[in-house]
Amino acid sequence: MRRIAVYPGSFDPITKGHTAILHSGLVAFEKIIVAVLNNDNKKALFSVAERMEMIRESAADMGADPKRIEVDSFDGLLVSYAQRRNARVILRGLRAVADFEYELQMANMNRHLNPEVETVFIMANDAYFYVASNLVKEVTRLGGNVADLVPEPVLPRLLAKFDK
Ligand code: PNS
Repeated sequence: MRRIAVYPGSFDPITKGHTAILHSGLVAFEKIIVAVLNNDNKKALFSVAERMEMIRESAADMGADPKRIEVDSFDGLLVSYAQRRNARVILRGLRAVADFEYELQMANMNRHLNPEVETVFIMANDAYFYVASNLVKEVTRLGGNVADLVPEPVLPRLLAKFDK
């Protein structure tokens, strides 16, 4: 059976924390669909198209087989999207304890909505366990250096957004 996982998120922007999860995910799954939430209500720095482009560039930068990583966007319920894409697994990364409650709640809500879709967690690489898109944006806005925390293709776009 082909093992396909959906790796959903805001990815505003993708960080090295995300690419580390992708890297590990490829050990377990044949194909990973990175699915960017298309949510007009959420104030995002990058458009969905920009975010998808940065994910594609970062995946290429990782040297991943392009047939094994697909980048897409979705709206509506995640479990419905997963079902449409024939994916039985939702992949999420877990960093600190702070992530746990939110992730447990989402995983159980998604299980309630569709018991056939499993959520699988990969523990964040300890080098990136403190890295979050929101912090990366804030630090960049305030002039800090995040060059080691985001994939190479992301950095110039991030700096440009803050006129740095
Ligand atoms: O990167 P994020 O912002 O932590 O990702 C959150 C995401 C996209 C996984 C979550 O908001 C989501 O799945 N939204 C889709 C709507 C949905 O299915 N909601 C019910 C699940 S609890």
